[in-house]
Amino acid sequence: MTKHFYITTPIYYVNDRPHIGHAYTSLACDVMARFKRLDGYDVKFLTGTDEHGQKVEKSAAKAGKAPQDFVDEVSQHFREMSEAMNFSHDDFIRTSSERHKREVTKFWHKIAERGKGEGGIYLDSYAGWYSVRDEAFYAESELEKNAEGQLVSPYGSPVEWVEEPSYFFELSYWQQSLLEFYEQNPEFVYPESRYNEVKRFVESGLQDLSISRTSFNWGVPVPGDEKHVMYVWLDALYNYVSALGGPEGEEYKRFWPADIHMVGKDILRFHAVYWPAFLMAAGMPTPEKVVAHGWWTNEGQKISKSLGNVIDPYALVEEFGLDQTRYFLMREVPFGNDGDYSRDKMVSRINADLANEIGNLCQRTLSMIQKNCDGNVPERGPVLEQDEQLQNIADSLIQEMRQDLQKPDFSKALERVLHLSGAANEYITREQPWALKKTDPARMADVLYTLAEALRYIATALAPFIPNAANQMLDQLAVSPEERDFTHLSPEHALKAGTALPPPRGVFPRFLDSAA
Ligand code: MSP
Repeated sequence: MTKHFYITTPIYYVNDRPHIGHAYTSLACDVMARFKRLDGYDVKFLTGTDEHGQKVEKSAAKAGKAPQDFVDEVSQHFREMSEAMNFSHDDFIRTSSERHKREVTKFWHKIAERGKGEGGIYLDSYAGWYSVRDEAFYAESELEKNAEGQLVSPYGSPVEWVEEPSYFFELSYWQQSLLEFYEQNPEFVYPESRYNEVKRFVESGLQDLSISRTSFNWGVPVPGDEKHVMYVWLDALYNYVSALGGPEGEEYKRFWPADIHMVGKDILRFHAVYWPAFLMAAGMPTPEKVVAHGWWTNEGQKISKSLGNVIDPYALVEEFGLDQTRYFLMREVPFGNDGDYSRDKMVSRINADLANEIGNLCQRTLSMIQKNCDGNVPERGPVLEQDEQLQNIADSLIQEMRQDLQKPDFSKALERVLHLSGAANEYITREQPWALKKTDPARMADVLYTLAEALRYIATALAPFIPNAANQMLDQLAVSPEERDFTHLSPEHALKAGTALPPPRGVFPRFLDSAA
């Protein structure tokens, strides 16, 4: 039976250029999607852009453009970022597309089959605080004062007082159902601290949610009352379903409910509270899991446009290399925690893990094979205990990484690859194949074979994280493209003695810091 796996990034607001935060969320999804594909799953990896709402409308006006022209242009930047980061998404959804607008309109109708007292939609008026930057309504008790004494949102964004007719979603009705749902699905939110935060928020009581606006019109019209546009978050969240063609779509049967919605911690509440409640009201299955990652700071400082310290993913790729950047972002912090970017940390990761550990292992093994075995995969002799020990670490690697990614804990998964490569480097030091050349060439061949095989496991396991470099390693081991998945990490598919290997090339150069 085919196993299906559906993973989504948040859809990005098109008010801004892509930055490290966007690249990070999508990268985590990309690694997961690639891992699952190599593990035999039928995968759908969705990303896209969130194009409606007041924030985007204002940005378009500021740019002197009609909203549709503006979003067409900025949405393109996000496609380009995906390409530059080598993301392997299967689909890119835009909320201003017809396929989305049609489906979200049906979704509204579905929820509106329930009225007040039934957990559905009712007309009233909203009077309260709204932050355009966060596109969120706030209760007065949630607001804070900034250094200038102004009221701001918990994320430091300006808020304004809004009074207007509005449709409401009767969120309060779903409180008990949500709490039962969390109780029955303790893994619904990762990490656990965030799960507890969501539960506490719902336990503290839920207000009904305003789900339409009348003071601007860049959005999907509310069916039957076109003075209103849908609240941008209701509109946006449904992208996950509209991209499947809606509940009648062929892909819906294969992929809904989503396995993972990957989000930053700032947008967890929308995904873990409002979204399941909307779906419950429409009688649709809720997602399996919402994973909330932390935020990056830059050299210890909060990233912000006003501080001018926004990290541009293109600049990182340009300076350090694509796979190096991908590796750093996934390795540096346990997923879920906040992370701090610094040049020093980037350089030391590249040099310590990639150049010194994995690159060195690769270079030493392959050049010894080239020189001493005529460039062919060597003949394997009798397997000694130390060979078997190394092979045992390789054998358990994927299973352990599966468990790490189940959480997901990307940096732990990478640590395990490093552990295997560390064990292989120690093995070289102990076995000294260069010395065996004269004393026992058969044993030398055996040692080099064991190392080449360990490298094959390392490269295959790294492929979801650093696909280009991993493929270069596998090219150098002459592993054919159809053998580069996890089912081939078994003794029956081991490297064949006598296979000609291409001349070795360094895969991970040391980063020499000219700025230091
Ligand atoms: N449009 C909404 C999502 C709708 S999903 C139905 C949105 N868009 S966003 O463009 O503002 O942000 C998208 C993601 O970028 C969020 O997951 C957010 O956490 C992430 N990041 C923004 N700045 C970040 C950092 N400094 N560090 C890490 N991630 C951060 O929200």
